[in-house]
Amino acid sequence: MKPMGAFPREFVAQSGALTIGGRPADGWAVEAGDTPMFVYDIEIVAARIARFRAAMPAIDLHYAIKANPHADLLAAIAPLVDGLDVASSGELAKAMIVKPAASISFAGPGKRDDELVAAITAGATLNVESEGEATRAFAIGDRLGHTPRMAVRVNPDIELRGSGMRMGGRASPFGVDAVRAAALVKAILAAGADWRGFHIYAGSQALDAGAIIETQAATIALAARLAEEASVAPPLVNLGGGFGVPYFAGDAALDVERVGDALAEALASRPAILGKTRFAIELGRWLVAEAGVYLTRVIDIKQSQGETFVVVDGGLNHQLAASGNFGTVVRRNYPIAVAARMGHAPTETVSVVGPLCTPLDRLGDKVALPPVHVGDLIAIFMAGAYGASASPTAFLGHPPASEIVTGI
Ligand SMILES: Cc1ncc(COP(=O)(O)O)c(C=O)c1O
Repeated sequence: MKPMGAFPREFVAQSGALTIGGRPADGWAVEAGDTPMFVYDIEIVAARIARFRAAMPAIDLHYAIKANPHADLLAAIAPLVDGLDVASSGELAKAMIVKPAASISFAGPGKRDDELVAAITAGATLNVESEGEATRAFAIGDRLGHTPRMAVRVNPDIELRGSGMRMGGRASPFGVDAVRAAALVKAILAAGADWRGFHIYAGSQALDAGAIIETQAATIALAARLAEEASVAPPLVNLGGGFGVPYFAGDAALDVERVGDALAEALASRPAILGKTRFAIELGRWLVAEAGVYLTRVIDIKQSQGETFVVVDGGLNHQLAASGNFGTVVRRNYPIAVAARMGHAPTETVSVVGPLCTPLDRLGDKVALPPVHVGDLIAIFMAGAYGASASPTAFLGHPPASEIVTGI
């Protein structure tokens, strides 16, 4: 038997039939017409946002829509956050349906000219990733007769300790190295762009409050140093994010209140050049991961060499991350349940596998579950972020999973 992660707090005390947004999982499957499917509970997202607001000092909260760009979810989140962060013109178009362009920022290396045109025409902020990108943006702005809004994305000389995905403190395709950032700010100002400040993103999926606190303090110091070097105060410093969620056994949830208290202190004593600066944090998974449940139905149960395989109708083509193939070094089990038997004692050790012809398609590896039968619904939690949109949905030609948002 191998351990699995803990159920998110909204589900942990449930017993009997799993309910999502107050409705039994079976009911959602009937509504969707078929499985597999994702259900996203917006009430859970709203609770995370409320917790963030209560814990943090007066800063802006941006949602990084790459975590889950489902249109109904976006529409529900947009009024609850101050900005949206996008990473392509496709995401920009989705974001602009629900939020004014002035509160949208566009990050990502390799923005094509047509993407720069879309962002500059709309008036979204480009988080400029290189001097070359800035030059192209100026040329496009001139041609269009629009002043580009630009923040300088800095490749920080700090890393977010313990993060699942480090994006600072090393050579990087993201942002310009800190040593060149002030020069780029001066160039942007000299060219007449609308300079929005700095975007400094050091990493993702960190559960250690101490590491986030340390990184935020270093980020504020870096922004102040760059502002001094450029002799100009930034209107906004986006401090990045990196708030992680507990996917696996032994993971402890991030102490957001501790992060908030430390950030309040750091901002209260910030260098004078940042006195009038606004600050933002941009989060993806921390807002939405725990709000999503992937429901998949048991098609077959088979034995092989003493092991039991529960074969379900969904797999890594919809929920790549749960199979351990989306950026994790060691495969570990997401929390999994038999939807009809929440809270029942485990009676057997099984591996939950999808229908794809690859040994990678394993959603649960030797997990302990209560009795499970053909036709049962299996629930895989922590499915609200980097699920449907971060999985190889075309692989092997199975139909896409349905996605339903509840609580709106
Ligand atoms: C620039 C940027 N912002 C936000 C995010 C969202 O990260 P997470 O979903 O871990 O909060 C990422 C993730 O890679 C990112 O690169």
